Amino acid sequence: MEDSFQAALQSVHESTLTKLAQAVTEEELNRLKIETLGRKGKLTLLLRRVRELPPEGRRQAGEQANTVKQELEAKIEELLIHLHDEGKRQALAQEQLDITLPGTPLPRGRVHPITQVMARVVDIFTRMGFQVEEGPQVELDYYNFEALNIPHDHPARDMHDTFYFSDEVLLRTHTSPVQIRVMENRHPPIQIIAPGAVYRRDSDISHTPMFHQVEGLMVDEGISFAHLKGVLTFFVHEIFGQGTPLRFRPSFFPFTEPSAEVDIGCVICKGEGCRVCKGSGWLEILGAGMVDPEVFRIVGYDPEEITGFAFGMGIERIAMLKYGINDIRLFFTNDLRFLRQF
Ligand code: PHE
Repeated sequence: MEDSFQAALQSVHESTLTKLAQAVTEEELNRLKIETLGRKGKLTLLLRRVRELPPEGRRQAGEQANTVKQELEAKIEELLIHLHDEGKRQALAQEQLDITLPGTPLPRGRVHPITQVMARVVDIFTRMGFQVEEGPQVELDYYNFEALNIPHDHPARDMHDTFYFSDEVLLRTHTSPVQIRVMENRHPPIQIIAPGAVYRRDSDISHTPMFHQVEGLMVDEGISFAHLKGVLTFFVHEIFGQGTPLRFRPSFFPFTEPSAEVDIGCVICKGEGCRVCKGSGWLEILGAGMVDPEVFRIVGYDPEEITGFAFGMGIERIAMLKYGINDIRLFFTNDLRFLRQF
């Protein structure tokens, strides 16, 4: 019994050492570890047999078996660590990093063309001394219409295709209500512009339900139509180029008198007549006029003392003419191929 135990121990010891010497992968080593030292491993089973041995040799046999066990455990651990380090070393030797290679370019964002044109327009007017004011997009009927001399039954309301929340609350259809809000709160002199989004129930190649306007208002004693012409001429030359012709065509707005629409010489055909200007050689870019005395009365100014001009322009329209874009919806469909061109 004792001899056969010794023989078995020696056999396990030697065969395991041989196999360990041949093992080349972590996987093989782990398998050997289980085969030998695992719960049902060969050495584990042998160790269990120790207590069945005759008492005289039991102690020595146990010690021998434990020594073998410790030796094998240590050996396997050492080999595992070695393999691991070796693997790392090889990986590092093989891996090469060429730090001269160009990096992966990050996609660059851009400022939206409407925001760009808006910023240009605002810049031109602030250089002339205009201050930037803003008003709410959800507006009261009073500011959007009533105080601008557009009573409830006025036919001018038809032009506006308004989004209503209720009888009194709506999405502003133009930036003109900011005129009223500013004049209600201040005394002349006033020289402001009001950029922002406006809304109309309209959608086709030249209309979107949301678009942008910049309003202008200059009010003081002695402000005349000549001032309006001077300011707008400077603006047109800055945004469309120095030689751009412009003309003031009589028009009507309930809140200005007299009123005008301003045309510029067609930027496409230079006045020859083309499809864009419908053969006229002119393109309408904004509405303007002298503030109607009735509006002054509504905000509490004395129209005998105070005069002023106002204008309003659509930013999308300016951008379309500036860049030769024929469909306003391109601005809002988020096609990167379009947006990347600006
Ligand atoms: N609010 C007018 C519109 O949206 C434009 C305008 C503004 C006209 C100021 C005259 C004076 O059409």
